[in-house]
Amino acid sequence: MAGRTEHAKLLSWIEELEALCQPDSVYVCDGSQAEYDRLCAEMVESGTLIRLNPAKRPNSFLARSDPRDVARVEQRTFICSTNKNDAGPTNNWVEPREMKERLTGLFKGCMRGRTMYVVPFSMGPLGSDIAKLGVQITDSAYAVANMRIMTRMGQGALDVLGRDGEFVPCVHSVGVPLAPGQKDVRWPCNPDNINIVHFPETREIWSYGSGYGGNALLGKKCLALRIASVMGRDQGWLAEHMLIVGVENPEGEKTYVAAAFPSACGKTNFAMLVPPKGFEGWKVHTVGDDIAWIKPGADGKLYAINPEAGFFGVAPGTGAKTNPNAIATLHANCIFTNVAYTDDGDVWWEGLTDEPPAHLIDWKGEDWTPSKGTPAAHPNSRFTAPASQCPSIDPEWENPKGVPLRAFIFGGRVSKDQPLVYQAFNWSHGVYLAATMGSEATAAAVGQAAMRRDPFAMLPFCGYNMADYFNHWLNVGRQFPNPPRIFRVNWFRKDDDGKFIWPGFGDNMRVLKWVVDRVRGRGYGIESPLGWMPRYDDINWQGVDFSEDQFTGLMAVEKDSGTHEAHAHEELFDRFFDRLPKEFVYERELLRSRLWRSPDHWEISHTLHGGL
Ligand code: OXD
Ligand code: MN
Repeated sequence: MAGRTEHAKLLSWIEELEALCQPDSVYVCDGSQAEYDRLCAEMVESGTLIRLNPAKRPNSFLARSDPRDVARVEQRTFICSTNKNDAGPTNNWVEPREMKERLTGLFKGCMRGRTMYVVPFSMGPLGSDIAKLGVQITDSAYAVANMRIMTRMGQGALDVLGRDGEFVPCVHSVGVPLAPGQKDVRWPCNPDNINIVHFPETREIWSYGSGYGGNALLGKKCLALRIASVMGRDQGWLAEHMLIVGVENPEGEKTYVAAAFPSACGKTNFAMLVPPKGFEGWKVHTVGDDIAWIKPGADGKLYAINPEAGFFGVAPGTGAKTNPNAIATLHANCIFTNVAYTDDGDVWWEGLTDEPPAHLIDWKGEDWTPSKGTPAAHPNSRFTAPASQCPSIDPEWENPKGVPLRAFIFGGRVSKDQPLVYQAFNWSHGVYLAATMGSEATAAAVGQAAMRRDPFAMLPFCGYNMADYFNHWLNVGRQFPNPPRIFRVNWFRKDDDGKFIWPGFGDNMRVLKWVVDRVRGRGYGIESPLGWMPRYDDINWQGVDFSEDQFTGLMAVEKDSGTHEAHAHEELFDRFFDRLPKEFVYERELLRSRLWRSPDHWEISHTLHGGL
């Protein structure tokens, strides 16, 4: 049965879109299992999905995209505020009326020969006062099926919407109308005309030309980050590109932490971390792996929800060793996109097992053997999985009030100079650390590592001027006498031979414990030029062979490179010019003067032995 609504504005919006897009039919989704099963069966019939072997992976499917449509398209993502400066220097901007004209041209008749699906959804638990409702119109059944896993989708959302509730209108088309009798292709898309458009003032989303991931599942990056960040700015809360975990110690005390890392830095692994040897009795509970919505509570604490209901995770690199919880989550009821297909009807990707199978069908649908020399799964291949299936899911993950945060962790991917962990001296210093984080990208021309700044890991996801976003963060922290503490981490420092110094993902627990100790007032910290740092003895090393020398190497601060890094922050700041918070200018000067007064090579043991 189709979804039912008496929401007048929604009904007239659907009519408007029907007139514009001219689909063959309109279908309002109810979100039921029967509806999902029917849509998937239709997609199997049409060749869009392959049903996986039910004995291996029940109720699961494989999709192969058009090879030209495999990732988010940042160059074609737009923030169309009235004023260019409100989108800021890090976003693509087009004047809203001009963009509306472009979109009207693109969407006119774009759904001919197709069904127009109406997908009502809630980002966040149904009825939570942190949650927001959206309605996506789409001509992609694949998007509908994924939205059912990733959001609370269907009649429940329509019921919360009622007759006059607010919703974010999201319009999506793959941009391939069908002439009468024309056979559809497996993965329709229009890669030359992709436009992923946000109107922050009217809170609308329009996406054209792509059926993949964040381009097509509009609740995720488009609504839950770009539009929600604007709502947060206006309403006094935060929409962040963060995972949320609850760390429970053997005494049962639970501490919630949110962490931001740029895409492809192991966020899902961190969100589902299994405590290593030496942490018997400790548990890490998963609340979310990608997005956090964070609101001040009446009690002066910050509460976070995961607005999503599923994981849309990168498959390659996910294995029983790196992330057993993810592997267990994927046992059934999943959609896999652009991974490889095994001879016994299951899926495979690089890193799932140490040894690849002798034969596969790769993500392009071609025969593959290990000697082929190309990856069998696309590097950005994905799983879409219900979060409820995750063994480490937190019992509180659907609490409509959210969970109280005690710490924020920010990390980039840097091979040199950035220590394993340090704590900001205070909130404004922490906001500075988050704003200046970055990851190395190899600049091919010179073969040298260059830094790509990714403030708060939000560079592609902030729906307004990032300088205003920094100010908003400063303001939020000012409201509280005891805001969450802020930490910077870097798991990726390498030694002189180019080898990673830090042993692995599970060992991040050692750092997490120090973070928890600090926020609980139990952990010791040394004042370094960069921030508070743990000594060797402040970290639990049980179960791993990691020497004090190695630790010292991982934490050392070089005056020259530190000063160079502080200097480089100015390049980032120059882009924001008049809107940059004054605090940042002072923070940078303080950092420079701390470095100026430090020894050429600052290390913890030096301080301890020399200083105490
Ligand atoms: C994601 C991303 O897909 O950050 O989560 O790119
Ligand atoms: Mn992400």
